[in-house]
Amino acid sequence: MPFPDDFLWGAATSAFQIEGSPLADGAGPSIWQRFADTPGRMVGNETGDVACDHYNRMPSDVALMADLGLQAYRFSVAWGRVLPDGTGTVNGPGLDFYDRLVDRLGQAGIEPMLTLYHWDLPAALDDRGGWLNRDIADWLADYARVVHQRLGDRVTRWITLNEPWVTMDGGYVRGGLAPGHRVHREGAMAAHHQLLAHARATAALRAEGAGQVGLAVNLEPKVAATDKPEDVAATARADAYMNRIFLDPVVHGRYPEGLPEVFGASWPGFADADLDEIQTDTDFFGVNYYTRAVIVDDPADPPEEARRVRQTRHPYTEMGWEVYAPALRDLLVWVKDEYGDTPLFITENGSAFYDPPQVVGGEVPDPMRVAYLHDHLLAVEDAIEAGVDVRGYFAWSLLDNVEWAQGTSKRFGIVHVDFETLERTPKHSAAFYREVIGSNGAALGDAPRIPTTDEVTATARRSAASLQEGAG
Ligand code: BGC
Repeated sequence: MPFPDDFLWGAATSAFQIEGSPLADGAGPSIWQRFADTPGRMVGNETGDVACDHYNRMPSDVALMADLGLQAYRFSVAWGRVLPDGTGTVNGPGLDFYDRLVDRLGQAGIEPMLTLYHWDLPAALDDRGGWLNRDIADWLADYARVVHQRLGDRVTRWITLNEPWVTMDGGYVRGGLAPGHRVHREGAMAAHHQLLAHARATAALRAEGAGQVGLAVNLEPKVAATDKPEDVAATARADAYMNRIFLDPVVHGRYPEGLPEVFGASWPGFADADLDEIQTDTDFFGVNYYTRAVIVDDPADPPEEARRVRQTRHPYTEMGWEVYAPALRDLLVWVKDEYGDTPLFITENGSAFYDPPQVVGGEVPDPMRVAYLHDHLLAVEDAIEAGVDVRGYFAWSLLDNVEWAQGTSKRFGIVHVDFETLERTPKHSAAFYREVIGSNGAALGDAPRIPTTDEVTATARRSAASLQEGAG
């Protein structure tokens, strides 16, 4: 079955990763400035001070999106630009930036999808406990109201939180992301408060008359490596911890079985009244999919005591993530089976690969990314055929950007960014995506697309040539 006529084709970014100028026009710092300012936290001690300089180049970036044929653009608002202290006084010039962005998108005929929180918590709120303070549920709701009052006349689709699991796990449990805590028992609180915040922000947006309100979760199918009971049990724990922890409470009003076991003695238990509030109708779910995980039991890997094992027969991205597109189809079917017919958007899907480090002759061939995009879109099409209500797809990412603690070392863009000159060059994947959009998916054909040896060799040659050029 082909993609429906009104299928929405887009690309996604987030504020911290592309904007730069974090303190411009009265903005308050976020936990990511603090994190980046702490030596050793970011690869190469990079910062997001310039990033893609999108804050100053927004008009030409929107023109670029139009050139690529994008029908939709998912971006996030930096909370600290709007409310420098996180609550209280509104910073007009910060909101003006997003006002201009939304206007430009409108002029270009590109639909905005707005994420309120993509990990860049105002530092002032972190000083008050951040996601460990229950009051944050109201802080997010107040912020949502302020943004909606300004942009709600032009923005229909709202996402409260991006990947609350990553905020919990990366920010509070494992500490690889801001605010960089490594305290298992904080995980449950950070998760619970995000759920409350989602519920309250949803209620606030609805009261303001918002069109559609959704939540974007990162889902990663967990597959047991063997039939051994301990591996099967570890897989269930990993699944509860990553995939069910937010969707079960929102849809079913309860935490998944097995989650208290993952947190052990640090599971505080939560009031029924909270779970009643958290169980909310959501207009859509955003699914962010990158990879699957084949799991074995490993008591040395808390909190889930589960570890992923490398698959020898499949390619891996530069992030070390297995490329396995069929899992996306199965995942979407699983979401429908477990959580019902809430419409879905793929709000992120993409890959960091070893692109040629420099643009040669105005081109960046990226056959692995083309193949990744192609095969994952086929998987989406298969899911639609299986009856899943998928409404749109957003490639991650429009631009090479600051990949959080990895800095600019990992490139996810379909558009190359030269971080010296900030020049943008669409990669071959961008040209390919443009064709897919233009044909509403027909250009995909039916067969998976494995890059040919010639393509891979040509890319390697270009890389070598551009390195020589750079050295010379
Ligand atoms: C995040 C993005 C990130 C991407 C690749 C997602 O977890 O939402 O901000 O760049 O994955 O790691």
